[in-house]
Amino acid sequence: MSISGAAKLAGIMGWPVAHSRSPALHGYWLERYGIDGAYVPMAVKPENLRRSLQALPLLGFAGCNLTIPHKEEALRAVDDLEPSAKRAGGVNTVVINARGQLIGSSTDGYGFIAALRVEAPAFDPSRAPAVVLGAGGAARAIVAALLDHSAQEVRLVNRTPARAARLAKELGGEVRGVLWEKRAEALTGAGLLVNATSLGMEGQPALDLALDALPNGAIVNDIVYAPLETPLLAAARARGNRCVDGLGMLLHQAAPGFEAWFGVKPAIDSGLREAVLATLHKI
Ligand SMILES: NC(=O)c1ccc[n+]([C@@H]2O[C@H](COP(=O)([O-])OP(=O)(O)OC[C@H]3O[C@@H](n4cnc5c(N)ncnc54)[C@H](OP(=O)(O)O)[C@@H]3O)[C@@H](O)[C@H]2O)c1
Repeated sequence: MSISGAAKLAGIMGWPVAHSRSPALHGYWLERYGIDGAYVPMAVKPENLRRSLQALPLLGFAGCNLTIPHKEEALRAVDDLEPSAKRAGGVNTVVINARGQLIGSSTDGYGFIAALRVEAPAFDPSRAPAVVLGAGGAARAIVAALLDHSAQEVRLVNRTPARAARLAKELGGEVRGVLWEKRAEALTGAGLLVNATSLGMEGQPALDLALDALPNGAIVNDIVYAPLETPLLAAARARGNRCVDGLGMLLHQAAPGFEAWFGVKPAIDSGLREAVLATLHKI
């Protein structure tokens, strides 16, 4: 698709950035809606993040996404933060406002909840405890989103207990740290199990977790999306649990930025899923 001299501009900053699916994702929407715009990958070294962000309004960009390793540093590099970024402890979306200021937000928690609503509409976080594995950036956004949606109790299981304890303290609410060794027992009575560790990802060890204590009615959500069907999801599916894969969160978290930059609320449909899945199979 060709673009004019008046094209709206956005993109993603990461280091490295070549692995990112965001250009394919936003490119699909730009084409689908016939928008005069472009979304480009920007390989930005950590030491250049601040200057690169500050250059965006000067270059006429509408904003950008941020990926590893920039999300945390961006908290200090933007002009103002939406509450979502403070809560998630990182920025993944920057929108430049009418005054040329960089406004940082995090859409990971929104993406997580939106995907869950589509895939498991009956799920109500206030009804049963949620078990979240991991205490990294993604886990933090997910736990915050669950608490913001009236989660009854979050059992936070992490290999490094101090990291889980710190996160529980920062987020407040009903978050209880659980030792990694006790992860199988933590599933008793749970309504939701989320894998937010990197275990199960291509090139990483599988997640070693016995599901016997998990109620059959519980939802199992693995946010790892490469591969899409992780060993955890396969095991959960085999015993009858409803499963949510990691692609939904990835697609939904992209929508608020696209709407802010390009002025169209994009649909998350099977065409988009196929387009992004095709990029996953290329790696
Ligand atoms: N679907 C989506 O939209 C989406 C969005 C963001 C991230 N993700 C995926 O989510 C995963 C986590 O991302 P992140 O950004 O949160 O990463 P991160 O900040 O590096 O956190 C990694 C987490 O995995 C745990 N972990 C790593 N190796 C482990 C092992 N051998 N045994 C036990 N725990 C281990 C870490 O535990 P310690 O604290 O003990 O090190 C930590 O809790 C990645 O696979 C990423 O691709 C998906």
